[in-house]
Amino acid sequence: RAYDVLVVGSANADLTVRVARRPGAGETVLGSDLVESAGGKGANQAAAAARLGARTALLAKVGDDAFGELLLAGQRAAGTELRHVLVERGARTGTAMIVVGPDGDNSIVVSPGANARLSPADVTDAREAVAAASVVSLQWEIPPETVRTAVALARECGTRVVLNPSPAPERLEGELLAAADPLVVNEHEARQLSGRADGGPAEWAGALRALGARSVVVTLGGDGALAADDGGTVAVAGVPVTAVDTTGAGDAFTGALATRLAAGEALADAVRFAVRVGAASVTKAGAQPSYPTPGELP
Ligand code: RIB
Ligand code: NA
Repeated sequence: RAYDVLVVGSANADLTVRVARRPGAGETVLGSDLVESAGGKGANQAAAAARLGARTALLAKVGDDAFGELLLAGQRAAGTELRHVLVERGARTGTAMIVVGPDGDNSIVVSPGANARLSPADVTDAREAVAAASVVSLQWEIPPETVRTAVALARECGTRVVLNPSPAPERLEGELLAAADPLVVNEHEARQLSGRADGGPAEWAGALRALGARSVVVTLGGDGALAADDGGTVAVAGVPVTAVDTTGAGDAFTGALATRLAAGEALADAVRFAVRVGAASVTKAGAQPSYPTPGELP
């Protein structure tokens, strides 16, 4: 197949300010200088995969503004095929307002802009790209109908689906769960979608598989990740690093996972690799600017 990974998803300009302390409601705090960088969960996954050497394409939509240029430049630098990045006249590029605290943890508000206009028809128009990819990787920052269309098309074309439903919807319908191989969720998404407020990663993964997911990966931040498929359940330990900025670490993880699955690696091995890529990404500021090449891995 011509592409290892096709990412269908969002592209945002990340506007980041570091603060010593997060403001409460009605409060003002002063932060660092503003940093503009390329982000968005879809564009991040694509950049991560391309930097790791996967033949990667991105199907996304940006506006015809300066932020759209920033996103295109980010993908160009990473080496992504840009043919399927659509530029919508008169639309604003998606924008993420990000606050990073002293611990490297972030809070994000996303204004979807052009991402909200990535339509099912845009996916159908890119049918050849879906058929040409080994893996299609999806998140939840574009319209749900668009995700559904991409999943249905991928199944038709025999393309493997990696689904990271982030930010988490209330629930995921059975068809999406059944197509996800794997479903990639963080702790919050795992609790929400498994319907289990208590329990731990193995229980959440078990519950999600009982709901229909073929395989499940639960990401655990600095504590690594858990992989569950027919081959069994494997806990992968975290790689100790000093966290500077965790923004986009999950996207780096998922892009890396898709890269290795496209190469035919077993799920647990792909997760071991992805944990290292996620860890490398938190040691530098920003999302895409922090993504490693193979030579930069811990
Ligand atoms: O997952 C991190 C990403 O979430 C950021 O790059 C931001 O754009 C939001 O989409
Ligand atoms: Na980072």
